[in-house]
Amino acid sequence: MSEKHDYDPANVFSIDGRRVPFKAGQTILQAALDAGVYIPHLCHHPDLKPHGSCKLCTVTVNGRNGSACTAKALAGLEVENDTPALNDRRSMLLQMLFVEGDHFCPGCEKSGNCQLQALAYDLEMVSPHFKHFFPKRLVDATHPDVWLDLNRCIMCELCVRASRDIDGKAVFMLAGRGAESQLVVNSPSGKLGDSALSVDDAAAHVCPVGAILIKRVGYEVPIGQRQFDASTIGHQVDYLARRHIPIKPLAVDPSAPAKMKEA
Ligand code: SF4
Ligand code: FES
Repeated sequence: MSEKHDYDPANVFSIDGRRVPFKAGQTILQAALDAGVYIPHLCHHPDLKPHGSCKLCTVTVNGRNGSACTAKALAGLEVENDTPALNDRRSMLLQMLFVEGDHFCPGCEKSGNCQLQALAYDLEMVSPHFKHFFPKRLVDATHPDVWLDLNRCIMCELCVRASRDIDGKAVFMLAGRGAESQLVVNSPSGKLGDSALSVDDAAAHVCPVGAILIKRVGYEVPIGQRQFDASTIGHQVDYLARRHIPIKPLAVDPSAPAKMKEA
């Protein structure tokens, strides 16, 4: 929670009837997370500029729907967030994300740390509802320290923004339009191993799903003892408001045995 003196007492709005203070320039989502109010989101990160693409954070503001991550907080706004209608809409968006890619949670190293999975549990999504697309996208293991599986990419562009705005490298970009759009790697061969990405880059640690994974640390934390195994994503607003990337920089030991250096 931010210090009280940061706030002008006139700068207050409401979310589901609860008073939420805000600092000038904050978005509704930033103010909500700072105040400990959870608004579901996927493409937001506190260290990156808002993007407004996943639409999970859609709330009703004075009767009209809008993205909480891009809408500025203003005094007196009446925001609805945790309503059956908005949560049904969020569940449908999650179902669409699940069928567009390959999100087979039991076979994914990110299980228990994945925000897509955690949101699906939180919103009580019980089935994918729509037909699976079964996409066949690139799996790129060419980088010595980082694994990329585009079948799990939800195109939130967090890695794109982190690489461009924090790392100053522009390793990742989105190419194509609509259903044809996909993440591409900016390198001569289009492969990650040929790019400027370093394992310490923010872009290597910001992915909310299992599309970008660090090699040689898989299952270090056992399933069942991971972040969202401990408590639901909706109860982790403090982490979501303040998380800093890189979340866990990897110290690569050059003296490690050769077999440990393989994917
Ligand atoms: S690889 Fe991860 S961070 Fe990058 S766009 Fe896809 S889901 Fe988002
Ligand atoms: S978090 Fe607002 S649109 Fe994705």
